[in-house]
Amino acid sequence: MVASVERPRRVCLLSGGGDAPGVNAILRGFVHTARGFGLEVLGSRYGFEGLVNPAGLVPLTVADVRGILPLGGCMLGCSTRVNPFFVDGGHERPTDRGPLIVEHLRALGVEALVLIGGDGTMLAAERFEALGMPCVGLPKTIDKDLGQTEITCGFDSAVETATRAVDALHSTAEAHARVMLLEVMGRNAGFIALHAGVAGGADVILIPEIPYRLERVVAKIRERERLGLRFSLIVVAEGARPAGGDVLEVEGGRPGHLPRLGGASARLLQELEAQNLGHEIRLTVLGHLQRGGSPSAFDRNLGMQLGSYGAELCSRKEYGRRVVVRGGKLRSIPLLGSGEAARHTAVDVDDGLARTARLAGVELGEAAEATVARAFHTRAEGWFTRPPVTPDA
Ligand code: F6P
Repeated sequence: MVASVERPRRVCLLSGGGDAPGVNAILRGFVHTARGFGLEVLGSRYGFEGLVNPAGLVPLTVADVRGILPLGGCMLGCSTRVNPFFVDGGHERPTDRGPLIVEHLRALGVEALVLIGGDGTMLAAERFEALGMPCVGLPKTIDKDLGQTEITCGFDSAVETATRAVDALHSTAEAHARVMLLEVMGRNAGFIALHAGVAGGADVILIPEIPYRLERVVAKIRERERLGLRFSLIVVAEGARPAGGDVLEVEGGRPGHLPRLGGASARLLQELEAQNLGHEIRLTVLGHLQRGGSPSAFDRNLGMQLGSYGAELCSRKEYGRRVVVRGGKLRSIPLLGSGEAARHTAVDVDDGLARTARLAGVELGEAAEATVARAFHTRAEGWFTRPPVTPDA
């Protein structure tokens, strides 16, 4: 009698949305761990494009992921062009490509789809899961705006790059007694701006969560002048907007795709120029430098852990889960049923680094009453009716 040869279990790995430093570490962590569990791994080339293109799925072996830890980008390629649940073109509309993709994956013997990405990718994971394709989600975005997790892969490296930019701008700002604006990414969340701004000692940090008042920015520059400091550093999140103003887009969102943001710092420059401050003002848009380059050691290690944990979940067939970091530890939570609010998060303007920035005199551009009210809010005790004698730790 001939013994039947069991086919190895097969899973498919995909990185949705834009690249982020550390995504290669996720792939490597996954592939190496999967090998130990006897799982066969396919990779989808260029994100969701690989799922709709017959040659889009390629085997991923330990040999394929050799040497990729220090590399930026994503060895599988990335694309934000394809959303499997929308048709692109003249008449964009929701589409039912999902069931076809699921059928295709099943025909290839793929038992689960592992999706690496931010909120958009997690939404796609929810949809695939609802269509009966078991999924696992792994958190990756430089924006750190994915809900339910303390950190996402790529954020640390992006903040590092942005912090170095603030440092570099400081010296030239001081030499020329200029006001320097630095626009950073982050979409509708101000995590990168806040973290790089505080780390780099910025004087003003404008984030989407706090619509700014121009008079506060001007007052900060004037206050510094009075102290003999003839230069100022302003970090502007791309999603920042003045009170009553709009978030600026360079390209509107198509159905199933997010708009591209840009122009926040150019608008602020114009607003400041109109104030005749007596300073030269220059602006730098950091752009995709924040997404490129070698990942930090932190993101490599986080990526390895995320990938490895994802493979572990697959080995145990714990599908329908999304990996999150809580209390510094990896956990998994259900993919479905948590809704939009759970997929997205933004800076807590009353606590953490925003609070530290405010208490340490960084101008966040908010109305004076709001600043005063927030300054008396303590982490442990909620709202004070009168100011504490010393700020709490
Ligand atoms: O979500 C990551 C991110 O880098 C955002 O911070 C930024 O707004 C956007 O992607 C840029 O997208 P693209 O690479 O398509 O220009």
